[in-house]
Amino acid sequence: MKDMSMTAAATDSAQPAPQARPANKISAKPGAFTVETVKSVKHYTDRLFEFRISRPAAFRFRSGEFIMIGLPDENGKPILRAYSIASPVWDEELDFYSIKVQDGPLTSRLQHIQPGDEILLGKKPVGTLVNDALRPGKRLYLVSTGTGIAPFAALIRDPETYEKFEEVILTHTCRLKSELAYGEQLVANLREDPLIGELVEGRLIHFTSLTREEGAPRGRVTDMIESGELFEKLDRPPLDPAVDRVMICGSMGLLEDMKAICEARGFEEGSNAAPADFVVEKAFVG
Ligand code: A2P
Repeated sequence: MKDMSMTAAATDSAQPAPQARPANKISAKPGAFTVETVKSVKHYTDRLFEFRISRPAAFRFRSGEFIMIGLPDENGKPILRAYSIASPVWDEELDFYSIKVQDGPLTSRLQHIQPGDEILLGKKPVGTLVNDALRPGKRLYLVSTGTGIAPFAALIRDPETYEKFEEVILTHTCRLKSELAYGEQLVANLREDPLIGELVEGRLIHFTSLTREEGAPRGRVTDMIESGELFEKLDRPPLDPAVDRVMICGSMGLLEDMKAICEARGFEEGSNAAPADFVVEKAFVG
């Protein structure tokens, strides 16, 4: 019953929302930012939502990078947070996937944005979850929890990822089934995509697990890696730094545990300056 109501909520909110109030405009134009317009908002659960904004013609980014997003406070001072860019590099708009923190300085307000509202967008995307920070390899593991899937939404739609790796394995662990919907819709749409659908055919694996509800394999992906259960389920050999590369994005606990797992298996941490075998970035909240 609970699942059905979640699905209905997500479907309803996919329709253009009626404008319940005049759009919020931004009068100050801080130099480090551009002022962009909210194009659409989709609420997945009471904790998760996605929003799309206009993209300045000059805005370039690499798949996996993040950017500062903000709204001015009552005094016009920007409240800013880092957001991974979830849209593919060729998209005309920019897409973001966010948690709602009820007392979070930014997301307590951001969760109420509507199409037509204005929002501040930083000018300089950065980050380490990029293909450039990894050595070439055979298989790319993208390990995420919660909204940590966002940078991978860009990477799994980037042809460069498939030029560099034969196979891409996206893992997404959430507490509840309703929290998997964003990733499930993303991958389903990708398989249908005329630009890249054929390229990913047979080369993208989407593995989901749940920790607090039935509906997908049960457990943390880290435990499944340690026990070997993940590789049995995927029918792939265990992690091997000779052929595998890993990107990690999610909660602090995931980052620490996955980093330890990688290092124990001989993986070296990479960066833009020194590409190596795995890279890490926290999913941003607040
Ligand atoms: P769990 O329910 O066992 O804490 P959150 O919503 O708190 O950000 O968590 C998102 C998902 O990440 C949850 O399924 C949670 O599992 C899982 N998780 C939290 N910490 C870790 C960790 N150290 N390693 C793997 N998964 C984790």
